[in-house]
Amino acid sequence: MKKIYQVDNVPISGEEILVQESIFHNANGYIGVRNCLEEGVPEEVRSVRGSYINGFYDFSAMNQAEKLYGLVEEKQTILNVADTQTIRLYLDGEEFSVFEGTLEKNRRTLNMEEGWTERTVVWTSPKGKKLEICCRRMTSFVRLPLFLMRYCVKPLNFSGAVMLESLHSGDVENYYNPEDPRVAGERRNYLEPVYRFADAEMSLLETQTVKSGLRMCTAVHHRVSVPYKMQTEEKGHGVTRKISFDLQQGQEAVLYKYTVFTDSIRNGRCREEAVDCLRELTQLPVEMLYKEQKEYLDSYWEKALLEILGDDEQNRAVCYNMYELLQSVGKDEHCNIAAKGLSGEGYEGHYFWDTEMYIEPYFLLTDPDMAKSLISYRHSTLEQAKENAVLLGHKKGALYPWRTIMGRECSGYFPSGSAAYHINGDIAYSIIAYYLATKDLEFIREKGMEILVETARLWMDMGAWHEGSFRINEVTGPDEYTCMVNNNYYTNVLAKHHLYWTARFDEMLGGQDFAEREELKEFWEASRHMYLPYEEKLGINPQDDSFLEKKLWNLSETPKDKFPLLLHYHPLYLYRHQVCKQADVVMAHFILEDMQSLETIRKSFLYYEKITTHDSSLSTAVFSIMASRLGMEEKAYHYFGDSAKLDLFDTHHNTKDGIHTANMGGSYMAVVYGFGGVRIKEEGLFLAPSLPRAWEGYRFKICYEGRRILTEVSREGCRIMLEKGGPVKLHLYGKEYLLEGCLEQQ
Ligand code: BGC
Repeated sequence: MKKIYQVDNVPISGEEILVQESIFHNANGYIGVRNCLEEGVPEEVRSVRGSYINGFYDFSAMNQAEKLYGLVEEKQTILNVADTQTIRLYLDGEEFSVFEGTLEKNRRTLNMEEGWTERTVVWTSPKGKKLEICCRRMTSFVRLPLFLMRYCVKPLNFSGAVMLESLHSGDVENYYNPEDPRVAGERRNYLEPVYRFADAEMSLLETQTVKSGLRMCTAVHHRVSVPYKMQTEEKGHGVTRKISFDLQQGQEAVLYKYTVFTDSIRNGRCREEAVDCLRELTQLPVEMLYKEQKEYLDSYWEKALLEILGDDEQNRAVCYNMYELLQSVGKDEHCNIAAKGLSGEGYEGHYFWDTEMYIEPYFLLTDPDMAKSLISYRHSTLEQAKENAVLLGHKKGALYPWRTIMGRECSGYFPSGSAAYHINGDIAYSIIAYYLATKDLEFIREKGMEILVETARLWMDMGAWHEGSFRINEVTGPDEYTCMVNNNYYTNVLAKHHLYWTARFDEMLGGQDFAEREELKEFWEASRHMYLPYEEKLGINPQDDSFLEKKLWNLSETPKDKFPLLLHYHPLYLYRHQVCKQADVVMAHFILEDMQSLETIRKSFLYYEKITTHDSSLSTAVFSIMASRLGMEEKAYHYFGDSAKLDLFDTHHNTKDGIHTANMGGSYMAVVYGFGGVRIKEEGLFLAPSLPRAWEGYRFKICYEGRRILTEVSREGCRIMLEKGGPVKLHLYGKEYLLEGCLEQQ
């Protein structure tokens, strides 16, 4: 099946425009441009006209009502940096707008094989002039600074003058909404103009952030396929080109608009870089730029193959999710992957634990170098993590921020922010997972170990010995409807794993001076004696020490319009109930399944299922994986469906603020780790494929210890093929095999 997502008769009412802007945004990990209507929208229609650079931020004040010691007073925000997507069209004074005249065709296409989006419109003006407009957009994966637009106009029932007004504007601001805690609450001015220039060949704008002192540039060039006249207007921090030409009926004119983005984080001479880069790019044939993009994606899909057979909709949804992860993930050590990728301003462009627990597992199996680069970003912010630990009163170690861009904490509400110490364990977990899947001990020596030791020290500093076991108090686990608790099972089990592996790596690396001997002994001891809450009567792992003492929330009696609960109930009210925003213990059972018996895992799953709202998009995928693990096929399938289509069907009603990258990784995991039963442990690679009743089959490729392994599952059974690399041991349905060529199981 072609990797194409297409929508006809795209609605242009209500919030739909915002949703389409997110869904069809173009990004390449460095830049991201929302897919707004080129011509703009009338004032009463909402649109977030944003272009972003990954890792490019400014500081702004975080107003705390009460100035308690150590609370975050300044946060970082991703910035809307420039508008170069605006192209207005005029026909003899009549302005093109889909909100007037008649719209015959309104199609959006995302081509995930060739790496572009297209908007095709057939429109008749109020005075009866009919034309076709087709705008293709591409952010290049091969040349990261490039955003290329190809704007085609064709008169269908007239001949005459056409004028295109193309904007290059630095007079932009971030979106804000005081009503919604998930986006910025106030209007702020983050950018100051530094330099503006225009000649016949290019326009150039340089801008500086008000507080962080970062600079960025955009350089724009236009090329037109028919004879034209161009007028230039320079105003404020912007340049407008008015491009006029005459067309015959049926004749097509094409405007190529090149934008290059550069910034001072990556290159102090970003102005020169923008000029050079634009000159170089405009000398290349456009067809070559498109070809390179396709070749890049050919090799990406070759590595990241995942196909669901017998359900085109779900297949397309997972394919979309995987493509969006590639669009969102940072391609250098200056950045990471934001909760909303580069598709919008939700969560202000912050990076969370989403990276380590939902997105890295995807890259680890498809492109381990990407996982390595995400870990390297954490390594590059270790100093800030140490400062953060000091701020929170710790005598040693590092505490990573709950949400951040450049490494400093950005969470305003510490109970479900800074208190989520599990972020340290998550980062550690991802390093260990990277090692287990690649056996790249050199990277552990080079970067991993330093992070592991510093974050392990923090457990020792904040934990306490009590009645012979090691305990971790006053933290928040993944479930944000339960805050500030003692012995969150997820946190403790992760810390146990983290401390164990830190000491193990030290042994494997031959006792280099990563930590004192005495300290390593303490890591072993704390890991061995980590307290893991267990309740005998119910046979489950309580989420924390006091969780089971609270009132049970009855979800079936909660009115539908009260979800998500966080928008309708005071946090304290939620905290006093047994109600979960997302997978917590269930998540712990997924990532570290050998810490409990299958019976405990099953009982816990059934217990938490009744009280989990899935108000966070990070939840259903994990429930799907664990339902698969427990043989609950129908449930696994149902949860997977919810996860897969979350953005394409806007089921959480907030895709307008941006896509949900963690869930996108989750939906991949629900197939490969869930239905495919993939686990990578110290003992090796495990697979246990099952096939949902609704599917004919599925196939996926994974990377493991430098090999590439293809798994095909059908009604007849499963086939595992070694595509690249030497023989390797694996466990299929619990039995060990040596995979040399092809392994079949009926
Ligand atoms: C979830 C967090 C997540 C964040 C960003 C919140 O709603 O509860 O677990 O990290 O969104 O995706």
